[in-house]
Amino acid sequence: MVMRALVVVDSRFGNTEAVAHAIRDALPPTRWRVEIIPAADVDWPDCSDLDLVLFGGPTQRHGLSPAMNALLSGAHVGRCCGLAAAAFDTRYHMAKILSGSAAETIARRLEGLGCRLVGPAESFYVAGREGPLLDGELERARTWALDVAARVETIPA
Ligand SMILES: Cc1cc2nc3c(=O)[nH]c(=O)nc-3n(C[C@H](O)[C@H](O)[C@H](O)COP(=O)(O)O)c2cc1C
Repeated sequence: MVMRALVVVDSRFGNTEAVAHAIRDALPPTRWRVEIIPAADVDWPDCSDLDLVLFGGPTQRHGLSPAMNALLSGAHVGRCCGLAAAAFDTRYHMAKILSGSAAETIARRLEGLGCRLVGPAESFYVAGREGPLLDGELERARTWALDVAARVETIPA
């Protein structure tokens, strides 16, 4: 059976979007159907028939971008009750205490909304404000996606 994943992404300069595409391309189409939607385009995703939802956004001012913040703040608790979820961000390659991490905040919010986190919040690093992603980050994103997907695939029905 083909599983369904949704990647909700915000991206100002295209870096987080590139990570979202790497995630989609990593998941074998024989097992996963993956859709990417911009955070600004959804009120709250329709979680029915989804097996996995991934939220990714740029770290801005140590936290969420405005579009991701608006999306996660507007959602109703329990809308995605029990749905497998994971979060990723892009940020500067420095200690998290200095950079902040949108992914950590997203993960906490998703948990509060009733999602079941299936992987660690992950960061992918940019060289500067507008990017580009550091070498190897898209490969790391593909590995992270496969790891998250494998965790969902092994959950007993
Ligand atoms: C307004 C603004 C604030 C930012 N603040 C941070 C920050 O606190 N920590 C950090 O690591 N990166 C910060 N950045 C850099 C972003 O993380 C970087 O622009 C982002 O990863 C690029 O992804 P995108 O192309 O998907 O927007 C900031 C960028 C902007 C535009």
